[in-house]
Amino acid sequence: MDTVVSGIRSTGNLHLGNYFGALKNFLKMQKENNCYFFIADYHALTTHPKPEDLHGNIKQVLAEYLACGIDPEVATVFIQSDVPEVSELYLLLNMNAYVGELERTTSFKEKIRKQPDNINAALLTYPVLMAADIIIHKANKVPVGKDQEQHLEMTRRFARRFNMMYEVNYFPEPNAYNFGQQLVKIPGLDGTGKMGKSEGNGVFLVDSPQEIKKKVMRAVTDTGPTAPGQEPSEPVMNLFTIMNVVSDQDTVKYFKDKYASCEIRYGDMKKQLAEDIIKFTNPIRLRINDILSDEKYLSKVVSEGAEKARASASKTLREVREIIGYRPF
Ligand code: TYM
Repeated sequence: MDTVVSGIRSTGNLHLGNYFGALKNFLKMQKENNCYFFIADYHALTTHPKPEDLHGNIKQVLAEYLACGIDPEVATVFIQSDVPEVSELYLLLNMNAYVGELERTTSFKEKIRKQPDNINAALLTYPVLMAADIIIHKANKVPVGKDQEQHLEMTRRFARRFNMMYEVNYFPEPNAYNFGQQLVKIPGLDGTGKMGKSEGNGVFLVDSPQEIKKKVMRAVTDTGPTAPGQEPSEPVMNLFTIMNVVSDQDTVKYFKDKYASCEIRYGDMKKQLAEDIIKFTNPIRLRINDILSDEKYLSKVVSEGAEKARASASKTLREVREIIGYRPF
């Protein structure tokens, strides 16, 4: 049985990238493994959300995840900030995390570019907090998308470093869920790059059918293939990548064949893609609204989840303190 940890920042609605990059694998694992799922609301603070928005954001993302099928009866579902033990482990791991390696992290360099007016210290140490989230439960599997690959690599490094420094074999080195295979990257509808929360290129699970249609019909394509067997351009390849996860394989093959024979009509392909996305998201969207209105249920889920997560986290922290050399008087 594996111990699995997965998380999401509470900074925006859940999109297809989150679902197919990480959540789908978590759902596959939740029954047979010891699974922890949490909302990363400390990580969300790096972008300075307003106090009046923070709670609502957390609640929304939690409801969206539950609506997708995370079962709090089998997985431990909790809010990161309800488990303060993680911040102590973060502090302890920071002692052995080096500024040079943190500055070289791709996500940090990207943040410097995107938010030059808010390069706070927590952005630099973001991967350390993420490592603490994972190893505090001694996880060995972490379902994540391609964009988190480097963070996971750093988690392994921090775990290994701790073990070596204290000459113990305490923390396992966690791997991505589909270790050895390519991690998933769901592209956006704007032709290039990954689907993101704030990039304006995403399809969200809460989007109405009309919104989905509008977004997909406006997706970037090109002027069409000019010779049989030609490789699709990046924007068209991206539409095929999304189609591959939401449509059935016959549909994908139909449009691939049309593309190969230069008979493709992007309008038809987009119409089909929009329909298939709607078929996938519609039942989830309806469940989100039901769950959001059930305050009692949400409160029960997070309080039970916090209790279970804290039991596991505080056990690790007790042992870590002992290994480091903190002793009771
Ligand atoms: P976040 O909130 O950006 O995304 C949550 C999960 O969704 C995946 N993902 C994608 N996968 C494929 N294609 C995409 N376009 C795409 N966009 C997002 C992410 O890879 C991620 O698995 N740092 C994390 C949150 C976190 C965490 C953790 C995750 C904090 N601590 C511990 C796992 C374990 C983040 O910002 O993910």
